[in-house]
Amino acid sequence: MTTRELSAGPVMCVVGARPNFMKMAPILRALAAHRPPLPALLLHTGQHYDAAMSDQLFADLRLPRPDINLEVGSASHAVQTAEVMKRFEPALDEHKPGCVLVVGDVNSTLACTLVAVKKNVPVVHVEAGLRSYDRKMPEEINRVLTDQVADRLYTTERSATDNLVREGIAESRVCFAGNVMIDSLLSNRAQARPVADTLRDGGHDPALLQQGWGVVTLHRPSNVDDAQTLGRLLGVLGEVARRLPLVFALHPRTRANIERFGLGALIDPQRMLLLPPQGYLEMLGLMAGATMVLTDSGGLQEETTALGVPCLTLRDNTERPITVEQGTNTMVGRDVQAIREAAAEILAGRGKRGRVPELWDGHAAERIAADLYQWLRAGAP
Ligand code: UD1
Repeated sequence: MTTRELSAGPVMCVVGARPNFMKMAPILRALAAHRPPLPALLLHTGQHYDAAMSDQLFADLRLPRPDINLEVGSASHAVQTAEVMKRFEPALDEHKPGCVLVVGDVNSTLACTLVAVKKNVPVVHVEAGLRSYDRKMPEEINRVLTDQVADRLYTTERSATDNLVREGIAESRVCFAGNVMIDSLLSNRAQARPVADTLRDGGHDPALLQQGWGVVTLHRPSNVDDAQTLGRLLGVLGEVARRLPLVFALHPRTRANIERFGLGALIDPQRMLLLPPQGYLEMLGLMAGATMVLTDSGGLQEETTALGVPCLTLRDNTERPITVEQGTNTMVGRDVQAIREAAAEILAGRGKRGRVPELWDGHAAERIAADLYQWLRAGAP
């Protein structure tokens, strides 16, 4: 490969919320390791700002301090998106990047994309083309709109490329590169924190998990913002917990709603162990040793597939179908009976084993860096 320097400005790498950080860490490393290196700047919008939601993950993932922090914080979708846009524009003007690289589907992803394309700065989207076909999910809107205007699109599974082509996006703009989140998982697996330490830090007795455990995360508005729905889900999780203790890492939104709706009594502290939002290495340890994971997260569906741990997804649809077709994921929706039965299957030793999908091999970010270099050198779009 040639080692000609690029004449364009740096790659401005944007992160905003927790699920962005594990995607960006391997990308930044791959841009630096490329020969010649691709200069990069890291911009944090500040959508997530708590130590547990942001700083801890930066440390775990060995992410450098952001060069720029827009400190937008929480607000309604409209205000949050607008604030990111307002504050991102001067940062673009000042740093004159050769392209803006966004990952995933959070509000920051779309906000920065909109600003960049209107200023004729090329946009690169990593994890493009995923579709739940559920427009009630804010992430779906973010994904569809980002992909329509992005200039270079990297996909994690072949079905995502097909989705993009169906939406009229030229296949020449798309590159199937694999899954950068799995790059992070594989490179950090050996450093996963022992579960006993994680539990002790959370004020729980690790002996409670001697016979195994399950892991729970819930944070989607559709699951946690309605008192009845959240109550029903906590009820069935309580049933599962009577057979298999569950470790429940609580998103701030979920914790607040359990308190607001007065649902705390549904949680038996001996069987359902509550923890604050966990660091990356703590989550990795918890998941890798779990009998099952119950979640509504997008990322956990993929991570459990890579780890070979059965996953029950408490949603009606997934934008990551390969985790169901090839991996360990089962969609159980919010139907209490379906959740109960699927959990019983796993407890009876009949959980899905699955296999690891194509190009989820720990080298996705390197492929992206190599392709991006060629693309920028050829003059981008
Ligand atoms: C966002 C993403 C979602 C992702 C999730 C992971 C969007 C549309 N959603 O949802 O795709 O799965 O991140 O967590 O971008 N809060 C804190 N501390 C923080 C951040 C948030 O306490 O550091 C609380 C605030 O009360 C806030 C609420 O969490 O209002 C929601 O935060 P927000 O960034 O709006 O969305 P998430 O639900 O975290």
